Amino acid sequence: AASLFVTGALAGKKVVITAGPTREAIDPVRYISNHSSGKMGYALAQAAVEAGAQTVLISGPTQLAAPDRLEFIAVTTAEEMLAASLQQAAGCDVFIAAAAVADYRPVQVAAQKIKKTGDANLTLEFVKNPDIVATIAALAEKPFTVGFAAESENLIAYAQQKLARKNLDLIIANNIAVTGIGFNADDNAVTVIDKTGQQEISQRSKQQLARELIALFAQKFKDS
Ligand code: CTP
Ligand code: CA
Repeated sequence: AASLFVTGALAGKKVVITAGPTREAIDPVRYISNHSSGKMGYALAQAAVEAGAQTVLISGPTQLAAPDRLEFIAVTTAEEMLAASLQQAAGCDVFIAAAAVADYRPVQVAAQKIKKTGDANLTLEFVKNPDIVATIAALAEKPFTVGFAAESENLIAYAQQKLARKNLDLIIANNIAVTGIGFNADDNAVTVIDKTGQQEISQRSKQQLARELIALFAQKFKDS
């Protein structure tokens, strides 16, 4: 069935995709993370394979099975995801950052399980994680770089700011305030933004959306 969708639009191209959440340890038994399911990133990876790309999927912990016919790299933390992304940047034509990277991690991982104390409150100190997609977009041999912007307000303005600030070629803006689409859902509806303008793609399955996005990226990459 998958072969029904083979397009060849990315034949001979290397596509690297980050997906899923990252998980940042607090102590040996606890971590901070987010509700990303990984579905959008995995669907994009599947669509990239179907488009004929040599595909690498760098994934944080998810419940999903790795798609066939690609290189799957399992990571846990943002720092591990960055290291894998930099390693895979060599020869990469299109880099797609679909991961929900933890913006901060605990300053230190406690060596032992943190014990409850008599205090009513607990304060943890966090340090900013590296920005993976911005790091890739700053490389001398920059791939065509695509980011996502999950926003609960000011969708287009915030997405445009991220496009510029991270030096991306394209950004997929995703309104997480709408239930049933985007974060952790099976469907998505997005606005695709680049320096030439913007284009809306209405609600559909992440599989269908992924095929349309990959076709669009292939066209934009070719024109770049
Ligand atoms: N991203 C990344 N590395 C990070 C944070 C984000 O590669 N440390 C990528 C995401 O994969 C996504 C894009 O940057 O493609 C935007 O992520 P988002 O969380 O929306 O943006 P932030 O820059 O983290 O800003 P904020 O969370 O404050 O909105
Ligand atoms: Ca963020």
